[in-house]
Amino acid sequence: MSERKKLVAGNWKMNGSLAANQALVQALRQGVGQPACDVAVCPPSVYLGQLQQLLAGQTAIALGAQDLSQHEGGAFTGDVSATMLKDFGVRYAIVGHSERRQHQGETDLQVALKVRRALAAGITPIVCVGETLREREEGLTEFIVKRQLSAVLHLNGHAINETVVAYEPVWAIGTGRACDPAEAGRVMRLIRQRVAAAFGAPAADAVRLVYGGSVTPDNAAAYFADPDIDGALVGGASLKADAFGAIIRAAAVAPGAPAPAGARKEQPT
Ligand code: 13P
Repeated sequence: MSERKKLVAGNWKMNGSLAANQALVQALRQGVGQPACDVAVCPPSVYLGQLQQLLAGQTAIALGAQDLSQHEGGAFTGDVSATMLKDFGVRYAIVGHSERRQHQGETDLQVALKVRRALAAGITPIVCVGETLREREEGLTEFIVKRQLSAVLHLNGHAINETVVAYEPVWAIGTGRACDPAEAGRVMRLIRQRVAAAFGAPAADAVRLVYGGSVTPDNAAAYFADPDIDGALVGGASLKADAFGAIIRAAAVAPGAPAPAGARKEQPT
């Protein structure tokens, strides 16, 4: 049985304001207590400084970014470097989200280079992979996931156990049409097999795989019950303290989760 700790990360996407962020973090800090899983929030980059201050002095909620540049620095207008993120205490960075692949035309190679940059800076990349509805309907799910993963493994395989891979089927994002947990688990095992084939069983056993796409308090426990699903990357529900807190609690009571000291007893559903 692996010792992988679950991770619940909130991707705020392009949402928030100074006032709304403050209220959300305050409610979250009260709601989550000292969770038994890793928790991160990923605000828009302009708010990282504010979030660093709001999260100061606590260890329950880590700070994450939604993207980073593949470059070290220089003439890249609008981009943010890994070193800059480190300045603000950033611990995680989402890389290769489908919205960036789709709207910013990010390629598999760019994603792999960004992962390398994050790892070099000591930031844990959360690399997103996943197929579109059309690709799924054409039977290309495995092909797409393997292709996206291969680029990352090719450049970063040596550090795969410091990398989080998020399986986010594009058709499940923001649609309310969550992927069936059994199917998500099947794709996770595919990813793990791929890592095992390239870097051996210990690496495959160490890499954390999280699911993203319409995760809610109602369906979270079903994902976390799968031994190969190590957490969630949450969009819409992470903007509501109650919903995000409930998802975090579901991860904390999932099979294999360590019991937090003084935690109230809850039964997995
Ligand atoms: P939703 O949870 O809103 O479907 O978004 C998922 C996502 O894209 C997280 O990165």
